[in-house]
Amino acid sequence: MKILSGIQPSGQLHIGNYLGMMLPMIRRMHNSDLYAFIVNLHALTTVHDRERLEQDTMNAAMDFMALGLEPENCIFWVQSDVPEVVELSWILSTVTPMGLLERCHSYKDKVAKGIAASHGLFAYPMLMAADILIYQADQVPVGKDQKQHLEVTRDIAIKFNNTFGETFVLPEPVIDDNVATIPGVDGQKMSKSYGNTINIFQDAKSLKKSVMAIKTDSAAVDAPKDPAKCNLFNIYKFFAPAGRLQEVKDLYINGGAAYGLIKLELVDILWEFFRAARDERDRLAEDPAHVREILKRGAEQARTKASTTLNLVRERIGLHY
Ligand code: ADP
Ligand code: TRP
Repeated sequence: MKILSGIQPSGQLHIGNYLGMMLPMIRRMHNSDLYAFIVNLHALTTVHDRERLEQDTMNAAMDFMALGLEPENCIFWVQSDVPEVVELSWILSTVTPMGLLERCHSYKDKVAKGIAASHGLFAYPMLMAADILIYQADQVPVGKDQKQHLEVTRDIAIKFNNTFGETFVLPEPVIDDNVATIPGVDGQKMSKSYGNTINIFQDAKSLKKSVMAIKTDSAAVDAPKDPAKCNLFNIYKFFAPAGRLQEVKDLYINGGAAYGLIKLELVDILWEFFRAARDERDRLAEDPAHVREILKRGAEQARTKASTTLNLVRERIGLHY
């Protein structure tokens, strides 16, 4: 089973990225053929700052490794080191109906948020389809926001296969309902671009600041509350130990849940939860050359796989003459 997913180096990674994509990938590392990559070409749709892109690319790679991705047990690389994917993206774009891309809500959402409506932003799902199809991935673990992009990828693969003959595997999204959309501190989907994140790697002071900013209602401590409707509980539940989670749930239901105290407890829980990753992250940061070497080695492996598919595609469509 080939499992593949990518993450944009467009800012600090947060607990939504961790629960929605990184953890599902890491969990599958030992019983599948895992492909993980940092999608810096996609990040170019929003980041036009050389230093920032370079740094965030390395940071995302180190973060992923610190959280448990073992490069010796997967193929791990940076998207732009496999240029074949850009050629495939162009080829796929010639069989992709405009309407398919016009329907994508991620493009519309980003433009509504003020991101420049470039052609790259519009064609973002094309490159993502090429990313997935070039490695013939069977499954793609992602958060719910990426579901439509996976549907587009499948539609494009079907269109290509019907036009030129069976070529691409049809990938399935892997979206765990429990972690499909982790809420941000304001209750909307947690996202780097909404400024509502709880970042994984931050100092104790800023962690406390972001957790204390979680929005709650003004119900009195003694009032019974519905935990499922509480933004704080909906974050707390992923990290609290099972026994304690039940106690806090009972406090919500029967009265006695004090938001301030639960927030302080969540700060401590998160700080401990990511302690080992933080230590590993510090170790990795001491030797970026080593991380770069790992990524370059991964890119060579990825390129070999990508070339095999691209050669087949070139042959199918008439580019070998
Ligand atoms: P962001 O929205 O913060 O920019 P990305 O688009 O880089 O995040 O997403 C990287 C991965 O993390 C994707 O698979 C995405 O679906 C997942 N993800 C992002 N935010 C969340 C969230 N709030 N809940 C669950 N998964 C998420
Ligand atoms: N679009 C994804 C996101 O914003 C990132 C991505 C690019 C991706 N290429 C991919 C995810 C291929 C999975 C597979 O999160």
